[in-house]
Amino acid sequence: MTGAGGGARLEAVRGDITREDVDVIVNAANRSLLGGGGVDGAIHRAGGPGILAECRALRATRFPEGLPTGDAVATGAGLLPARWVIHTVGPVHSGREDRSGLLWSCYRRSLQVADELGATSVAFPAVSAGVYGWPMEDAARIAVAATREAIGSTGIRRVRFVLFGDDALRDFSAALDQR
Ligand code: APR
Repeated sequence: MTGAGGGARLEAVRGDITREDVDVIVNAANRSLLGGGGVDGAIHRAGGPGILAECRALRATRFPEGLPTGDAVATGAGLLPARWVIHTVGPVHSGREDRSGLLWSCYRRSLQVADELGATSVAFPAVSAGVYGWPMEDAARIAVAATREAIGSTGIRRVRFVLFGDDALRDFSAALDQR
């Protein structure tokens, strides 16, 4: 499925994000930047130790307290086909408080950082929709809306939402169908 976002091409596909041959792969990281499970684990496993080494250097310099939720930072991509990995920290879903703004920020900041790198193609996973418990349909709605809002002020031409399951693909495709 595709959906125009400021002239850029947005699409939802099923697949393993570590195999995406794009300029930037976005990682659903945690504040430590020191790895984890899910997408984070897959990227570090497939990308090799160089990515973690750069993350450790970021913790020792720019982010001694860790990467704030909603922010994004780039490293190289190690052995991955991409050129960069942009690590972003999604919010943990809460039934009591609305953290949508933080999830929105993950997409906006990741696209800003990608644009600063000169990237023109970006692959996103469904940030926060795994371990962090965000309902997939709402995660997809926010991902697409935030991307459409942010992409117009960048030189990014292609965004691929790379999804691990059929339900996720269905929800992201539906979100792309909404104008
Ligand atoms: N490619 C694409 N999507 C994937 C992959 C993959 N290789 N592996 C998992 N996913 C999907 C999950 O099925 C889910 O839909 O990515 C989505 C995000 O799930 P998580 O990786 O659990 O990310 P998140 O919910 O943001 O939780 C982040 O989990 O792995 C830890 O270190 C990470 O603490 C952080 C937390």
